[in-house]
Amino acid sequence: MRDSQPLENGMLSNKIQTAINQQINEELFSAYVYLAMAAEADRLGLPGFSNWFKMQYQEELGHADRFFNYVLERDAQVELLPINQPEINDESALTLFEKALNHERHITQCISGLKDLAKSESDHATDVFLEWFVNEQVEEEANAQQVIDQLRLVDGNPNGLFMIDRELATRTAAPDA
Ligand code: FEO
Repeated sequence: MRDSQPLENGMLSNKIQTAINQQINEELFSAYVYLAMAAEADRLGLPGFSNWFKMQYQEELGHADRFFNYVLERDAQVELLPINQPEINDESALTLFEKALNHERHITQCISGLKDLAKSESDHATDVFLEWFVNEQVEEEANAQQVIDQLRLVDGNPNGLFMIDRELATRTAAPDA
């Protein structure tokens, strides 16, 4: 497989294949992070928060799946890399969502890097494929920021926290995750 020349039909360059395999790992790690957050929220006695993180865990599996399927569609090779252990210990509802937002900002940077690579490799198909993720990241960051804003507003008030928990309990899996 070529390294970085313009693409022929159906081929992924080695650089793009490696970068997308790395992104599959990032998305699976994201799923792991949110699963750890679901456990931590449950430990805090916040079942609604735990539900929200569990739904996000499922979305991240869906993201990994999109990249996985794309590599196969382009007749390239999937490489499943080791998944790191998430560092979620002794959190509060607020620090969980602050960590979620920081994590999503990191993923946004990863997607931007992939976009730049697709452009530099003149891989128009990958460039277009990544559009969905560019939009998704705007939503992911906004969702985390919205909960942070609510948590800052209630400032640890148990009634406020209870209300937010009830709201987060209503989140269901996104149909296109
Ligand atoms: Fe798959 Fe939350 O980015």
